Amino acid sequence: MPTAQTSTPPATEGRTVGSQPVTDRFGRPLRDVRISVTDRCNFRCTYCMPKEVFGRNYRFLPRQQLLTFEEIERLGRIFTTFGVHKFRLTGGEPLMRRGLETLIRMLARIPNVDIALTTNGSFPTARVWSLKAAGLKRITVSLDSLDNQTFMAMNDVDFPVEKVLDWIDACAQAGLRPVKINMVVKRGVNEDSILPMARYFREKGHILRFIEYMDVGTSNGWRMDDVVPASEIVDIIQREMPIEPLNPNYYGEVARRWRYTDGSGEIGIIASVTQAFCRTCTRARLSADGKLYTCLFAAQGFDLRALLRGGAGDEEISAEIARVWARRDDRYSEIRTQATARLPKVEMSYIGG
Ligand code: GTP
Ligand code: 5AD
Ligand code: SF4
Ligand code: SF4
Repeated sequence: MPTAQTSTPPATEGRTVGSQPVTDRFGRPLRDVRISVTDRCNFRCTYCMPKEVFGRNYRFLPRQQLLTFEEIERLGRIFTTFGVHKFRLTGGEPLMRRGLETLIRMLARIPNVDIALTTNGSFPTARVWSLKAAGLKRITVSLDSLDNQTFMAMNDVDFPVEKVLDWIDACAQAGLRPVKINMVVKRGVNEDSILPMARYFREKGHILRFIEYMDVGTSNGWRMDDVVPASEIVDIIQREMPIEPLNPNYYGEVARRWRYTDGSGEIGIIASVTQAFCRTCTRARLSADGKLYTCLFAAQGFDLRALLRGGAGDEEISAEIARVWARRDDRYSEIRTQATARLPKVEMSYIGG
């Protein structure tokens, strides 16, 4: 059941753990760590890894620069001492990282954490079962259209819709519910897919989330004109299938929830561009090479790998994380303009979605 609280952190937030401050300059606690396990992907979505940039000559991270599973687990344990209770595994495409199930098994041993995965759903469906067996609780699948032509043009590697739909069915069969589907909406590209996607996933009982196209990184050529605002998406759906807003499930939830008034399910809208949600942003990001980022739109991260490999103890690492978080003042989406979109920023495929 949704709780009514939305704008203030629960009472326990804002305190210190041991001597560690756990809130940033705007009083935001650290609750959620998104762990990128690889910067590689088998898709070339035009809004994320356009071929012109991520072509044959693109230099992906060499293997030895990636954090090992042991290093990720160690950081994971340290993060939980700050009150972090959710790890989301991302990429690039996280299933490109060999042996991901092993990492999930290791993270699942940490008490009181929710482990979720964001994937493009392009791998054999047998993986769904092995991921679940390893301890994964939830899967979010990216899918931008039900129309093959449109989807293939967006993933730019001619990957068919049908296989992703099979993957989504497999998630549901494996009990990894609720399955969430992420659809990035781009003006003039897949607006026509909004209604067919809503109808299909309402019928299936999954939660479809519409995401405003964002200016992450510097390679996707983002323009404000390409964004379909949340209000427009809501109108399009509302005209055919009446919806009403719902309270968030938890403090700092990214998606604004809406339910079909006939009780047939819910959708989410992630409106980072037109309705920024920085004020309740509790997310840190760990890149595949061990840098800690305090914003999706950051240009620089703090090198935790250097500490890990330099022999630092848990207390020292913990103190550095606390220091980085305490001085955090990021609120990019609140100050975004067409000009800030051109500032140097790390790519989403590197930092994780
Ligand atoms: P759950 O509530 O746990 O299901 O996860 P979530 O809402 O965090 O979902 P997910 O990780 O799938 O995030 C969905 C999308 O929201 C991402 O792919 C990003 O496009 C966007 N997003 C997530 N976090 C942020 C954020 O901190 N800032 C911005 N601007 N966008 C974000
Ligand atoms: N704008 C919005 N969402 C994006 N994603 C990747 N690039 C962008 C962008 N430019 C999201 C996709 C996918 C997740 C991995 O990141 O929706 O679900
Ligand atoms: Fe790959 Fe996801 Fe980026 Fe598409 S959005 S290129 S599937 S990481
Ligand atoms: Fe958080 Fe940065 Fe996204 Fe704002 S723009 S919600 S601070 S990650």
